[in-house]
Amino acid sequence: MSELRENEQKTLLTLEKLGGKGHIDQIIEVSGLAHAAVMRAALSLSTANRIQVHETRQTIITLSKEGKYYAKKGLPERRLIHALIKLGGAATVKETLREAKLEKKFLTIALGWLHRKRWATVERMDDKRVLLLNPSMRGEPPLEIDEKLLSRLNVEDHLIAEKLEKDLEGTISVLKKRKLVETDEKTLRELELTKVGYADLPMVLRVKKQISQLTPELIISKKWRKVKLRKFDVTAPGPVVYPGKIHPVQEIIQMVREAFLEMGFTEIRGSIVQTAFWNFDALFQPQDHPAREMMDTFYLAQPKEGKLPRKNFVDAVAKTHENGWITGSRGWQYKWNPQEAKRLIMRTHTTAVTIHYLAEHRKPPVKVFSVDRIYRNERLDYKHLAELYQIEGIIMDRNVTLRDLIGTLKEFYLKLGLKRVEFWPSYFPYTEPSAQATAYVPELKTWIELCGMGIFRPEVVQPFGIKYPVLAWGGGLERLVMLKLGVDDIRFLYKNDLGWIRRSPVCR
Ligand code: PHE
Repeated sequence: MSELRENEQKTLLTLEKLGGKGHIDQIIEVSGLAHAAVMRAALSLSTANRIQVHETRQTIITLSKEGKYYAKKGLPERRLIHALIKLGGAATVKETLREAKLEKKFLTIALGWLHRKRWATVERMDDKRVLLLNPSMRGEPPLEIDEKLLSRLNVEDHLIAEKLEKDLEGTISVLKKRKLVETDEKTLRELELTKVGYADLPMVLRVKKQISQLTPELIISKKWRKVKLRKFDVTAPGPVVYPGKIHPVQEIIQMVREAFLEMGFTEIRGSIVQTAFWNFDALFQPQDHPAREMMDTFYLAQPKEGKLPRKNFVDAVAKTHENGWITGSRGWQYKWNPQEAKRLIMRTHTTAVTIHYLAEHRKPPVKVFSVDRIYRNERLDYKHLAELYQIEGIIMDRNVTLRDLIGTLKEFYLKLGLKRVEFWPSYFPYTEPSAQATAYVPELKTWIELCGMGIFRPEVVQPFGIKYPVLAWGGGLERLVMLKLGVDDIRFLYKNDLGWIRRSPVCR
């Protein structure tokens, strides 16, 4: 005979105590075992023919929220007929509604049922709808089965369809259609000891006398020499444990940070709320640039304005926008407005943070990165979020070139597992040349966009007195995360679906 696990022994003994038969709930109560433990024991006991499992389906009927309300207040047709009788058996719909104190939204339903139950009819008289009590009725109609059932449910909390009188079936289905009751299917399991199970009981009782825990008392008193110690069952399944862990998105942010740090970058962080000056103007985006529109950018309602930086920065940016200043450019040829630059916004890219940092750190070399949240006024769908993460890096040094940027990016994305990265010409108002990097994902056989990149234009660096080339790139984080985690709807990343968080591995 195979060894019985402790929970199986307990289940057998409990069944015996219950006279050989018992429902799962009873076994839980008597044995003190958890539901899952009893279920597991039942499965192996029945496989070994020690017990038999009898399953019955039960339909549990309960009141819906609306049903509960009606059970207390009465069905709307009942409230109407009650009022109508009080008004003498004939009254306009309006009056009756008022007398019944019935909410207007229930009126149509109530009238329909008055008609179906043949309690009253609605007729049109001089442009008014009038309710007339059915002449064959004497006084208030007696309670009908649907009403009786509702109050029974109100008192008994739930009913079991299979145990109800057959003739109530129709009423239940009507109440269900009226959404006054809800039904829920449940499988009831009853366990019954078989002959084999009974035959095991003496052995189980013997094993029960064995000691399962060696206590200090047993050792001190030397009793441990005499007692029979139970063997460990190392194959017994343990409960599933969900340890606390870091959110998968944060894990990947951590990976990105490590990749940057390994390459000698330092992390910087800036504020989420920025003036348009740092987010747009400093990056040579003209003030009528479409990205500045409300539909793309979140503007703050309160406070509306922030402070502009030192006057010489502002003047230089203004002149660069207007006519190119000393940068060799013609500028955008319009009158630059400091008011527009003061407006506070939720940063739309982390480039706002890197240019601000550069303006204050002009001595080469500068090699910094940020992984942080940005905001875009997007309609949410499987591809778009309004709040998302951006990865951004810059390198400023005496002799750096586009080749350094390409090499850095190849190495960076390789660290994140992307082996094939290619570069395409692109456009950004603040870089020249500008490019875009894409990566090939062999598992999906597609290319994905990684980031925008380029070398900051003279119109961007000169107003801040930055003298050396600045290599910059920035791109989304979520796309990388989705790829790594096999998620195809971006909203899912922040849904905090516990099942998914638990399933996703701690180590990758
Ligand atoms: N800021 C750009 C974006 O949000 C990316 C970028 C950063 C492009 C730096 C060039 C240089 O898409």
